[in-house]
Amino acid sequence: MGPLSAPPCTQRITWKGLLLTASLLNFWNPPTTAQVTIEAQPPKVSKGKDVLLLVHNLPQNLAGYIWYKGQTRDLNHYITSYVADSKIIIHGPAYSGRETVYSNASLLIQNVTREDAGSYTLHIIKRGDGIRGITGHFTFTLYLETPKPSISSSNLNPRVAMDTVILTCDPETPDASYLWWMNGQSLPMTHRLQLSETNRTLFLFGVTKAIAGPYECEIRNPVSASRSDPFTLNLLPKLPMPYITINNLNPRENKDVLTFTCEPKSENYTYIWWLDGQSLPVSPRVKRPIENRILILPSVTRNETGPYQCEIWDDGGMRSDPVTLNVLYGPDLPRIYPSFTYYRSGENLDLSCFADSNPPAQYSWTINGKFQLSGQNLSIPHITTKHRGLYACSVRNSATGKESSKSLTVEVSAPPGIACLPVFTPMQ
Ligand SMILES: *[C@@H]1O[C@H](CO)[C@@H](O)[C@H](O)[C@H]1NC(C)=O
Ligand SMILES: *[C@@H]1O[C@H](CO)[C@@H](O)[C@H](O)[C@H]1NC(C)=O
Ligand SMILES: *[C@@H]1O[C@H](CO)[C@@H](O)[C@H](O)[C@H]1NC(C)=O
Ligand SMILES: *[C@@H]1O[C@H](CO)[C@@H](O)[C@H](O)[C@H]1NC(C)=O
Ligand SMILES: *[C@@H]1O[C@H](CO)[C@@H](O)[C@H](O)[C@H]1NC(C)=O
Ligand SMILES: *[C@@H]1O[C@H](CO)[C@@H](O)[C@H](O)[C@H]1NC(C)=O
Repeated sequence: MGPLSAPPCTQRITWKGLLLTASLLNFWNPPTTAQVTIEAQPPKVSKGKDVLLLVHNLPQNLAGYIWYKGQTRDLNHYITSYVADSKIIIHGPAYSGRETVYSNASLLIQNVTREDAGSYTLHIIKRGDGIRGITGHFTFTLYLETPKPSISSSNLNPRVAMDTVILTCDPETPDASYLWWMNGQSLPMTHRLQLSETNRTLFLFGVTKAIAGPYECEIRNPVSASRSDPFTLNLLPKLPMPYITINNLNPRENKDVLTFTCEPKSENYTYIWWLDGQSLPVSPRVKRPIENRILILPSVTRNETGPYQCEIWDDGGMRSDPVTLNVLYGPDLPRIYPSFTYYRSGENLDLSCFADSNPPAQYSWTINGKFQLSGQNLSIPHITTKHRGLYACSVRNSATGKESSKSLTVEVSAPPGIACLPVFTPMQ
């Protein structure tokens, strides 16, 4: 209803005039013997019911009174007023249509809503000498019967010692306090339990069996209190640490089929594979039977050594320790350094052979097909023309069983003066 809604018999006094009068007058000091008191009838009121705010010990000879919602006596909080002389009722902006003020100042509120709870102020104006009246105001807090609360949980099936759970006492109720019990007793002192500032929310850090409940919460105000049903968390067992088993930790490159298995096995888990910290992409080459618990690599290269990890998921995940493969490969085609082939008599010949291989290759040198030495490096000081020939480096990896070789034709020019052969001077 609008602020200017007035009863049909509006007379000389308007509610604005009444307010103005009230604000101009001094406060009336209530006599100590007959203190004005306000009482709710019934003391406990629930939503949808009616409540009468009964005023006791009202002084005689009043000019009128005003009811306000809240503790501030301003226009916006003005509900209704009664003017004694003219017996008229004037409604204000806070009038909802459900309030009735009686000549004895009592206020009836019908069909009470949750918003009606809270404080009310009764302002009385005593008839004074001449225009000077005496006024007084009295506040009263209306409490509704507390609703039966229930506990809601952020997580119904938390994992032991892993998850944080937030319990909330519903519904949120104004002018009420919240209390909690566990096992029928006040909350135990532990760092794992923490209440919010209003006490309405309870945080459980790393739920364990000891603090799984049953919890009860209570909503309490000065006229009533109600307690929830007990609530117990259903703790799920801790996720185990998964681990990988592999059929072959030392596979040969492009040769051995690898089978990874993620343990333990459970129909409850989802399995995820990781290579080098990245989720292993799905590819038609890689088979993943049994709901991804097994990973089959038809072949592996030296670049795919890992680390491999598997992860299990079931309302939270747990990743295995990384596993790195020792891929056996090579030897690749060896290279000989330096690669130039022309030398002068008297120079030192220092040849070095290298082939990529895991484990490292075994090296051997032959000259013109004749075994010379085992090892990577071949050194011949002060060579002469008789050191011309085919130098070959052979490499072998006993783990892969593979071999390879590379050869180099070494030419040696005769020293100056001994011109029995055409002189060759390539390195000018
Ligand atoms: C005031 O009037 C109402 C309505 O007639 C009545 O119910 C109530 O008891 C009265 N209050 C007092 C204190 O007599
Ligand atoms: C009480 O209020 C509710 C909601 O405002 C309304 O639906 C209901 O009809 C009202 N009941 C009465 C008896 O006025
Ligand atoms: C919250 O509860 C504690 C005791 O458990 C109490 O001391 C405190 O006043 C309560 N706070 C509120 C806002 O009700
Ligand atoms: C799988 O989940 C069901 C139901 O949640 C549970 O009873 C069972 O113990 C779980 N199995 C394993 C191996 O965790
Ligand atoms: C390994 O990776 C390097 C660089 O990424 C690439 O040049 C090489 O060809 C790869 N080798 C194999 C066997 O895949
Ligand atoms: C072979 O020679 C190269 C280059 O001079 C050197 O780095 C390497 O250590 C030598 N290898 C062996 C096994 O002596």
